[in-house]
Amino acid sequence: MKLWGGRFSEAASESAEAFGASIPFDHRLWPYDVMGSAAHCRMLAQQRIISIDDARSILRGLAGVAAELRDGKLDLSPSWEDIHTRVEARLRELIGDPAARLHTARSRNDQVALDLRMFARDALLVELDALATIQGSLVEVAIQHPEALMPGYTHLQRAQPVLFAHYLLAYVEMFWRDAERLLDCFRRTDVLPLGSGALAGVPYPIDRDLTARLLGFSAISANSIDAVADRDFAVEQLAALALVAMHLSRLAEELVLWSSAEFGFIEIAEAYATGSSIMPQKRNPDMAELVRGKTGRMYGHLVAMLTILKGLPLAYNKDLQEDKEAFFDAVDTAQACLSITAEMVSSIRPKLDRMATAAAASFSTATDYADYLAKRGIPFREAHEAVGKLVRLCEGRGCDLADLSLDDLHAASTLFDASAVGITAEAVVAARNVAGGTAPARVAAAREAAEQRLKGLRAQMERRRATLPTLDGLLTPPID
Ligand code: ARG
Repeated sequence: MKLWGGRFSEAASESAEAFGASIPFDHRLWPYDVMGSAAHCRMLAQQRIISIDDARSILRGLAGVAAELRDGKLDLSPSWEDIHTRVEARLRELIGDPAARLHTARSRNDQVALDLRMFARDALLVELDALATIQGSLVEVAIQHPEALMPGYTHLQRAQPVLFAHYLLAYVEMFWRDAERLLDCFRRTDVLPLGSGALAGVPYPIDRDLTARLLGFSAISANSIDAVADRDFAVEQLAALALVAMHLSRLAEELVLWSSAEFGFIEIAEAYATGSSIMPQKRNPDMAELVRGKTGRMYGHLVAMLTILKGLPLAYNKDLQEDKEAFFDAVDTAQACLSITAEMVSSIRPKLDRMATAAAASFSTATDYADYLAKRGIPFREAHEAVGKLVRLCEGRGCDLADLSLDDLHAASTLFDASAVGITAEAVVAARNVAGGTAPARVAAAREAAEQRLKGLRAQMERRRATLPTLDGLLTPPID
């Protein structure tokens, strides 16, 4: 069956049919297609555009089609073109003539825009859920090790000691901003395009607000051409997910580095590591490497979508069918990467002694020796110079700054007194008692704030989820 066979006298070539079909990938939109059709049907009946009897048959038929799709009982071969065609064709087989009235005041152009927006909305909630979970995992590890020290790095050279918890919370901040971006994107995704018809609107007294209410949309589109032509809501989600992937990839890279013998800061649980087929001793962080590697396709999907849209004349063009595979894969990949990383983070065993030793080594307290002098009136630049000499002295002796005696310190500046002997990494960390700093009290407060924020996010998502439609909710209530 073709939805557009009327004006054609020749059958489509098999190759054109196969090339043009989207059903091999858009079949996963079926729940949205059925929900959209059910809501459209209810609205048509309410507005007396179709009869109540026809509407009842359509809903009954849609329930049957949905059950068959759910059970994998419908043939989805490419000759069916797309999921919209398939649902309608099966509906016709099940209920006959009334099925032919469902497409009144609707085009596949506004239908596919609707399906994709509904898919995008659900995807956003799943992604937000996964972002909440990974933040929860990071916070949990931070809670287990509130005062553990580790070296902080710049240029991948040991720089200053920080709390391990502070480091973990840095990623919580990144994932929090990612969540905010997705929430913001939700607002613009949550707009009903149905009622735009092919591109110009429809010549029936439809009630778009009713359809929007039934489908849980907060707004209706303001311009029919825009509504069927743009996919910027998908681009936005892909862009936000590209950032998620970038953050995940940085975290994954740290897990790879930290679990190496060179760092030796953590052990990744065996459940998330793999062995080598030749080297019996190996324990490879494959999952973290894959998360890092999948960033490439996430960026690729964003660029693909932008490129599909670039230069497209308004309104619908078949090019838009290319939006789906990129979008679906990005959503699936992001979800998989987020959840495996969350599990991996929960599973790590930090080697606290090794981290603390590394935190105190490599002259990581040098800045604080300079600060010590600066606080006693020496311009910081000069203090820096003086401490540089101390570092050189230590290198010559093969010792650390903490091993220098007061006499040694006096050689660099007489402003040092006994309190400067043996400045510890703990003291360095505690001294950074500023908002956003790594002092234990600040980190504890930041962690509590993050927990509160997460609670708020989860509650907000719960409320939002409750407003989304379900197949049952749209198919079962009687029409009267
Ligand atoms: N399969 C099509 C897509 O994914 C549905 C819309 C078809 N509309 C049309 N005018 N050919 O974009």
